[in-house]
Amino acid sequence: MSLIKIKGLTKRFGEITAFEDINLEIKQGEVFGLLGPNGAGKTTLIRTLIGLLRQSEGTAEIFDFDTKDEIMEIRKRTSLLPQECQPYENLTARENILFYGRMHGTMSKDEIERRTEELIDIVGLRGRENDRVKDFSGGMKRKVLVARALVMNPDLIFLDEPTTGVDVLGARTVRNLIKKMAKEMGKTIILTTHDLHEVDELCDRVGIMVNGKLVAIGKPDDLEEQFKKAHLEDVFIGLVTGEGINAS
Ligand SMILES: Nc1ncnc2c1ncn2[C@@H]1O[C@H](COP(=O)(O)OP(=O)(O)O)[C@@H](O)[C@H]1O
Ligand SMILES: [Mg+2]
Repeated sequence: MSLIKIKGLTKRFGEITAFEDINLEIKQGEVFGLLGPNGAGKTTLIRTLIGLLRQSEGTAEIFDFDTKDEIMEIRKRTSLLPQECQPYENLTARENILFYGRMHGTMSKDEIERRTEELIDIVGLRGRENDRVKDFSGGMKRKVLVARALVMNPDLIFLDEPTTGVDVLGARTVRNLIKKMAKEMGKTIILTTHDLHEVDELCDRVGIMVNGKLVAIGKPDDLEEQFKKAHLEDVFIGLVTGEGINAS
């Protein structure tokens, strides 16, 4: 069953087309990667899917709800970790998570507390949960952000460049958390990245976005196959530069 059905979705800002005629279905339990260079339209697509922006044309359904007029039904079950996002530095890790749970407004106090304790263990912050976030490393801050995004127990999670600007160890931590969310917790995950290795490691399928268009969709291996056994990196660079793909 498709959890997300996108048909002919287009977003323009005046003269600028952020993305155009996107057609895509994503299944429940899938980890789907949107791969593309800066300015490809990844963030705008995600923001449109979660109802922060309104599309210019086309439709998107998530959980069989229309993003145009049933967005609150979608938001109850969906979490977004935005691209530029920091936890509250003056709150502790636990307070950050609790605060998000309360803000969501659908859970009882007991439930929020129970889930917060659970998430402190899941993301690996036990022992530091009562420390203020301002003293945390980049990787630990990401753990707080992931825990915060999970507190309302979403079925679907959008992660916008979750490892960009994070050091090597922090990125590894985040990737392991993404695997855990997918495999152990059964979440459907859409992540954006410009990192090919991340897509290869994490994603069941990938969509390559260039200049607002989805130019290829498939399993990482199948894309390599489809483009005459070039490495995914060659496929990506060929599509982005418009120079075509030379198998290596
Ligand atoms: N609020 C906005 N107003 C005008 N143009 C925008 C706005 N948001 C994004 N864009 C444009 O849409 C295009 C896609 O941007 P974005 O979705 O941020 O790309 P990505 O996340 O892939 O780097 C860019 O050309 C960007 O300048
Ligand atoms: Mg972006």
